[in-house]
Amino acid sequence: MKLNIAVLPGDGIGPEVTQQAMKVLKAIAAEFNHSFNFKEAPVGAIAIDETGHPLPDDTLQLCKASDAILFGAIGDPKYDNDPSAKVRPEQGLLKLRKEMGLYANIRPVKAYDTLLDKSPLREERIKDTDISIYRELTGGIYFGDKVLSEDGNLASDLCAYSKEEIERISHLAFKAAQARRKKLTLVDKANVLETSRLWRKVVTEISKEYPDVELDFLFVDNAAMQMILNPKQFDVILTENMFGDIISDEASVIGGSIGLLASASVGDNYALFEPIHGSYPQAKGKDVANPIASILSAAMLLDHFGLYEEADRIREAVEKSLQLEITTPDLSSKYDLITTTKVGDFIEDYIHHPTDTNINFQNLHLGQSTII
Ligand code: IPM
Ligand code: MG
Repeated sequence: MKLNIAVLPGDGIGPEVTQQAMKVLKAIAAEFNHSFNFKEAPVGAIAIDETGHPLPDDTLQLCKASDAILFGAIGDPKYDNDPSAKVRPEQGLLKLRKEMGLYANIRPVKAYDTLLDKSPLREERIKDTDISIYRELTGGIYFGDKVLSEDGNLASDLCAYSKEEIERISHLAFKAAQARRKKLTLVDKANVLETSRLWRKVVTEISKEYPDVELDFLFVDNAAMQMILNPKQFDVILTENMFGDIISDEASVIGGSIGLLASASVGDNYALFEPIHGSYPQAKGKDVANPIASILSAAMLLDHFGLYEEADRIREAVEKSLQLEITTPDLSSKYDLITTTKVGDFIEDYIHHPTDTNINFQNLHLGQSTII
């Protein structure tokens, strides 16, 4: 398969983790006879520095002309600490999502057996957790009218949803549930918010088309608690933009590190793949950030194009790296520092030689390997 992939490394650790994902995709292309063509473009704080805009027109055009987008991370402390900044890096990502119509953000959350002890939650509570979060991505409070009064003393953000916006992601979430354990939980705040009541009404209506899927509802405050108390109860979670943002960061604790969580943002015409973590500016350029979220986002990209065997090879490689503790410091490997690049090298090597990996790993400990 021939794919043109736009690469938007962005800020902070974005470039270094995306580098590893590209390396892994190149290994897949070589092993499985595909042709992946990568073109990079600036977005976020780096784009503001270069052009004055967080999403330059050329970057948006490149994305629209590509088959898929591989996204790194966005954000810079110099904007976080300045509430009066008129131009912010995050506006680049939000505009990109809106312009490309990426309304469904899919965030898989899984407890890896080998990492159960890395989570602050008890092993027996998280073992076998496997959740797919469907977060609405182009509506709600993120995109409603924003007002700041002239005297600067009053602000408001409108949260609005249309029936159509709810319907299109709901169909995707129900279909996903059908292919999984056939349970869908709508997370909302229907006891308080009018938008949430509309979500309940529309989702209940749609559920009639999916009689094999069990639908239940949870208020978001309760869902936040249940995520910690008993995450295994969830299969597919469907929720609006802001609740999905919060609950997915919370859910990342189950996996042991936010550095593991990948995501796909899809619409009717385009698809973007990005780690859910942020730009982690403290780690920028240090080669310590976990590249696995970005690498697993690349696997989701392959899934999106039906390249399941290829995507599985990446996931297998990742599991192997976790098993052998070839991991960055966020997963506190028992070995000396294993860098971002080395984790990427290991995964790349596994893709080429899945059966030799143990040998390579032993060599590593004998100090003979050129891989690590
Ligand atoms: C995410 C991020 C973004 C969001 C930020 C960077 C705008 O937190 O993708 O979860 O809030 O959607
Ligand atoms: Mg977030």
